[in-house]
Formats: sequence, C-alpha cells, structure tokens
Amino acid sequence: MRKGIILAGGKGKRLHPITKVISKQLVPVYDKPLIFYPLSILINLGIKDILVICVPEDVKIFKKLITPLKLNVKIRFATQKKPNGLPEAFKIGKNFISKYANVLILGDNIFYNKNLLEITKNAFNDEENATIFVKQVMKPKEFGVISFDKNKKINIDEKPKKPKSNLAITGLYFFPSDVSKKVKLLKPSKRGETEITDLIKIYASENRLNIVKLNKTIWLDTGTPDRLLFASNKIRNFKIKKRIIIGNLD
Ligand code: DAU
Repeated sequence: MRKGIILAGGKGKRLHPITKVISKQLVPVYDKPLIFYPLSILINLGIKDILVICVPEDVKIFKKLITPLKLNVKIRFATQKKPNGLPEAFKIGKNFISKYANVLILGDNIFYNKNLLEITKNAFNDEENATIFVKQVMKPKEFGVISFDKNKKINIDEKPKKPKSNLAITGLYFFPSDVSKKVKLLKPSKRGETEITDLIKIYASENRLNIVKLNKTIWLDTGTPDRLLFASNKIRNFKIKKRIIIGNLD
C-alpha cells in the first residue's frame, strides 16, 4: 500500500494579487479549483489514504470543498505554517507515512495521460527506491533539472542559471518509507528552504533513484499567471475538442 500527500500550502507569491487572500490551490483552472487536479491523480493511482498539507487558515476551506465530494478515499489534513520547503511534507507527515511508501504531488501540478497507471506501475510497485518523473521543457531554469555527464553520472540542480539539459523534474515523486529519516539530513539552501532536489540527490547517491521520462504526458505547472492561463485553455480545449475531462473527480 502507498499513501499520498498533496502539498497545498505556500504563499503563491508569483500569482499575487490573486493569491493574496486565497490559497493558490483554490484558484480556478478552467472549471475546477486547482487542487482537484493533483487530487484526481492520487485517486487514479489507487491511493486510498491521502494527507493534504496546507496553511492553518485554509484547513476549514479545503474541508468544506473536499469532504462533500464522497470520494471513497480517506482524506486527512495537516498544516504547515511557513513554506519551509517541499521536503517538509515528510516531517509534517511523518506519522501519517509511518512504514508506508508514498507519493508526493505538488498542489499546483496538473498531469494528464490516459496511460498513467501503466507509466507509473513499476514505480508504484518499487517500494525500496525513489522515482522521479521528468519532462523536456522550453525553460528548464524555472524547475529542478536533471542531466547526465560523460560518465553517466546524474546531476540534479534546483532552478539552475545555466541548465545542463532541458529535462525538468515534475512535481510527482514516489518515495520509500525511509524518506522521513532522509529529510533530517537536509540543510536549507541559499533561499532559506530545504530543497526537494537535495532529497532526490540522497537517493541518487545511494543508487536508489528511478527516472521516468514523461513523453506523451501533459504536464502543466500553474505557478505563474501565464502558465495558469495556458493550463485553463489547454483543459478547456481537451473538454471541447476531445471530450476528455482532466481532473475529473466524479
Ligand atoms: O513544478 C515542479 C517544480 O516544483 C520542480 O521542478 C522543482 O524542483 C520544485 O522545487 C518545485 O518548484 P516550484 O518553484 O514550482 O515550487 P513552489 O515553491 O512553487 O511550490 C510548489 C507547490 O508546493 C505549491 O503549490 C506550493 C506548495 N508548497 C511549496 C513550498 C516551498 C508548500 O505547500 N510548502 C512549501 O514549503
């Protein structure tokens, strides 16, 4: 069994003033609040026990939104006061994870692939190693980036000024149960947060990292106004032209 975590806190600074008084994960993306999209991914993966981490003042709102949906999965809530970094999810969720492997999805990431289960199957069944999902992007410097040197050694950089490849690390991560021990080893980066890329590096250094390329998958990061608009249009087009509903929770 794997547990699921949605990290839905943060300040959404790049979306101000939209997110000055509401959570980024409640902002509409076409016809649904953003959080529906990552939530639908965890549910589609077959995860039955999900922890939503948000800022304390949003718990009530998320509960009001999600509880009536009758999703047939257990959803719990935990809080993060300050955005101290993505790996903090595993400190906050330590007891929730307990002895279970898990899937972390960022609350502002949208994925669509009709073969999602097939693509993630090996990662799902591999409870000893971590798996990240990477995709070619136009502007890698806005993401965590993975590259390989001549000796096939893996390099992992968070938002590098000069990216060594255009392979971005997406916001979907499969970790083994020992991740809550590993996060204790992390030190804050220059920007004062612990970095998910440093956590991934630990698994790479132990030879415990799988890397899956998402070729035909739609991946939308909604962190900026332009990307949010792009995502809304893409989801609308899918519904109207292909009759595919992305992020469906019905
Ligand atoms: O979208 C993929 C990228 O996500 C990765 O390529 C990067 O390696 C990873 O660091 C992350 O970069 P972002 O700059 O997009 O992360 P951001 O700070 O926007 O946070 C992503 C989501 O997680 C967002 O919904 C807010 C939430 N969050 C973030 C932090 C740092 C929290 O809930 N708590 C936090 O402490």
